[in-house]
Amino acid sequence: MKSSSKKKSAVKHTRKAKPVSARLAKPDTRVLDAEKFLLPTYKRQPVVMTHGRGAYVFDSSGKKYLDFLGGIAVNALGHAHPRIVKVIRREAARAIHLSNLFHNAYQGPLARKLASWSGMDRVFFTNSGTEAIDGAMKLARLYGRKPDEAAGTTAKKHRFLALDNSFHGRTFGAVSVTSTEKYRLPFAPLAPGVEFVRFNDVADLEAKFDDTVCSILIETVQGEGGIYPVSEAFWNRARALATQHGALLIADEIQCGLGRTGRYFAYQRFSAKPDIVLIAKPLAAGLPLGAILTSEDVATRVSPGMHGTTFGGGPLACATALEFLQIVEDEKLLENIRVRGAELREGLAKLAAKFDFIREVRGEGLMIGVELSVEGGPFVSEAMQRGLLINCTHDFTLRFLPPFLITRAQVREFLKLLELVLATTPQQASAPDSAKFPDPARVAHATAR
Ligand SMILES: Cc1ncc(COP(=O)(O)O)c(C=O)c1O
Repeated sequence: MKSSSKKKSAVKHTRKAKPVSARLAKPDTRVLDAEKFLLPTYKRQPVVMTHGRGAYVFDSSGKKYLDFLGGIAVNALGHAHPRIVKVIRREAARAIHLSNLFHNAYQGPLARKLASWSGMDRVFFTNSGTEAIDGAMKLARLYGRKPDEAAGTTAKKHRFLALDNSFHGRTFGAVSVTSTEKYRLPFAPLAPGVEFVRFNDVADLEAKFDDTVCSILIETVQGEGGIYPVSEAFWNRARALATQHGALLIADEIQCGLGRTGRYFAYQRFSAKPDIVLIAKPLAAGLPLGAILTSEDVATRVSPGMHGTTFGGGPLACATALEFLQIVEDEKLLENIRVRGAELREGLAKLAAKFDFIREVRGEGLMIGVELSVEGGPFVSEAMQRGLLINCTHDFTLRFLPPFLITRAQVREFLKLLELVLATTPQQASAPDSAKFPDPARVAHATAR
């Protein structure tokens, strides 16, 4: 494989690096330290990633990877974007942290910009997606409590609805509204009052919605679950039922928001608006920052001291986020996302016609899932060997989350690499015949095959 990099950097950027096994033969002390001292929450690949440039990442041997994982949907501008580097340098030399007891120069302007992108009115900054989910659950409980219901009692309107196949994070509240059992069950009993609705099943939604519900939480496009977009019929019914019962419609746009699907927010393909929008991942171009965006109606229930954060909304992260949003506008990245996304899906449809173990291609913009009838893990490892970073969700779906500034040439490079990977990876166990995730809308939302 040819390397397109002609940089004069001290690091030799090449894909012809030693194979992983050879590198393992001489263990890296940094890896040994990690294995000995880190909590074993992740199965990490046996490489040390050192830096990135645009859509490429490099490991400590100098091996170059085309990054179609983007730090799991975070690196929307790739790596080392000059404008982001400049802002981070400038702000690091001014003030990294000041606390929320004072104003800083960027929180207000960033909140204004996010309000204009989303159509929401107020913003609370967090450090992560899961923290935004937990905050939104607290807001929903606040919103549901009637003035005559004393604090400390269980309000009549206290139930949370969430969806089957959802993923909302790892803190206690977020894991309580995450349906996947392997994430939930070890921690039982979880937050009470949660019920799951079948994905895109309007009848089930209607059966479970009543006056005791304070919110319905929806990933507008399910990410970890395997790239499943919520249907318009389901979204509209959720909006109508939430309004009818005085509950909140909450959009989890932590993975699919901020441009990923070719719109500022994925819910903008519908006319009905949510009451709360949650964002994180790409917001500060890799620095930890999330946000809860709410309507004014929700915001009126909040008073000082009810909720807070030490780190959320610091000047370094907010200045960087402001720059990120400005770059998306200046570089017309939404258009690039739509065009490159269409090219990708077209190329993937051709691969689906060629490889019979591709079951379905799903997704919008640069959030794409390819469901296989065989296990996806071996393809991820083979891709890595060949200098391509992808991942696999729910065992059988390959997920692609390239940066928003991906080029036509990089899309072609990706499709070539992927074809090689699909052609050469030994196939493992087959997926069950019936879909692992029985989605009533899977056929309606397939974009290829
Ligand atoms: C849709 C969605 N919600 C919430 C989260 C949790 O975000 P974080 O990992 O920043 O806590 C994730 C993370 O993958 C996500 O994809």
